[in-house]
Amino acid sequence: MKVSGSLQVPGDKSISHRSLIFAALARGTSRITSILESADVHSTAGVLRALGVSIPALSSDFIVRGVGREGLSQPAHDLDCGNSGTTTRLMAGVVAARPVTATFIGDASLSKRPMRRISRPLEAMGARVTLPPHSGLPMTIQGGALHTIEWHSEAASAQIKSAVLLAGLVAGVPARVIEPARSRDHTERMLSARGAHVAVSGNDVAITSSGNLDALDTSVPGDPSSAAFFAALAALASSGELRLEHVCVNPTRIGFLTQLERMGASITLDHRHEEGGEDVADIVVCPGHLKATTLTAGDVPAMVDEIPMLACLATRAEGETVITGAGELRVKESDRIAAVVTNLRALGAHADELADGMRILGSDRPLKGRVVTHGDHRLAMAFGVLGAAAGNSIEVDDRDCVGVSYPGFWSDLARSHSA
Ligand code: S3P
Repeated sequence: MKVSGSLQVPGDKSISHRSLIFAALARGTSRITSILESADVHSTAGVLRALGVSIPALSSDFIVRGVGREGLSQPAHDLDCGNSGTTTRLMAGVVAARPVTATFIGDASLSKRPMRRISRPLEAMGARVTLPPHSGLPMTIQGGALHTIEWHSEAASAQIKSAVLLAGLVAGVPARVIEPARSRDHTERMLSARGAHVAVSGNDVAITSSGNLDALDTSVPGDPSSAAFFAALAALASSGELRLEHVCVNPTRIGFLTQLERMGASITLDHRHEEGGEDVADIVVCPGHLKATTLTAGDVPAMVDEIPMLACLATRAEGETVITGAGELRVKESDRIAAVVTNLRALGAHADELADGMRILGSDRPLKGRVVTHGDHRLAMAFGVLGAAAGNSIEVDDRDCVGVSYPGFWSDLARSHSA
């Protein structure tokens, strides 16, 4: 398999959600360009509309008129978050600080995901949260005046951190979150750029603002989590080079590139510059002889969504790859530890589940068979890339689920490589 050419992956999902939410909460008009037009981001737009913000149809260039932090109103119906954990958890923080009662609902996968991790801090701030016995969705929040909080988060999770910071921002009370390790920091960067007072010291983040956010134009850079699939494709190739243009290379997001380089691929960051408070660059990837790697807890937050892809790559690397400290993968869009290992074994790879990770032994034996994605977009794309490697023949049961984060994935994959 050879790779060639260049590719612009779609806009970053985390920044896209936040660009909508922060534009809605600001006073004034914000222009958003290159937003990710995917199902998850449509969910955030829909929830904001239900709360009274006039968000136009998403397009490559549009304007949002903010309602101010006190402008969100009582929704007339449930807030449908689809498959999106980010929509649910960030908007839960916002809703908790408004005098409204709202019920968050979602699809079967999202409804099973843990919400206690955000209901606990929001209740500690004074909101009333009702969860079903399994602690997923539907989740009803009765919001109102909140008090200040200092929260020690159980997980390195930008969704938990952002829920608490947004509750503090909208309520106008100080909020502080201490994480076990630093999660992605787009909320901190984007709130600071919009005039909020955010103090960051290692894994400790505090917001002390009480005013409205400033409206600000945002141009969304390419998503490093989407780019990771194509970096992996180039790493698996026998020859060629792939250029991934204008990708967000925020240090809290590029752990996968560090690992890929360690495994033997060649990676160059070209045209590195700052844009709207984020580091952006072209990522150029060339193949290499891949060797196994080891991932421990400290490596996980900066590549939490890329581990299924790394596990697939490990089947083609020399030696045994061991991933630990990745228990968070069990509560993503699917149980990504169980689902990745079961699928790898079904294809003929050597893989074993660990409580908080997995072991994968690389080989050059062709992998063949059908993958069950459980509707998880990142599993579909990771196995799609593995299927493109020479000798492999992999069928993905649900190709459409990529629409959550990367609707054009299959056509981009087809045009980036040849036999
Ligand atoms: C996200 C944070 C991550 C990630 C998700 C998007 C965000 O979740 O898995 O795809 O935009 O804040 P956690 O922070 O809960 O790990």
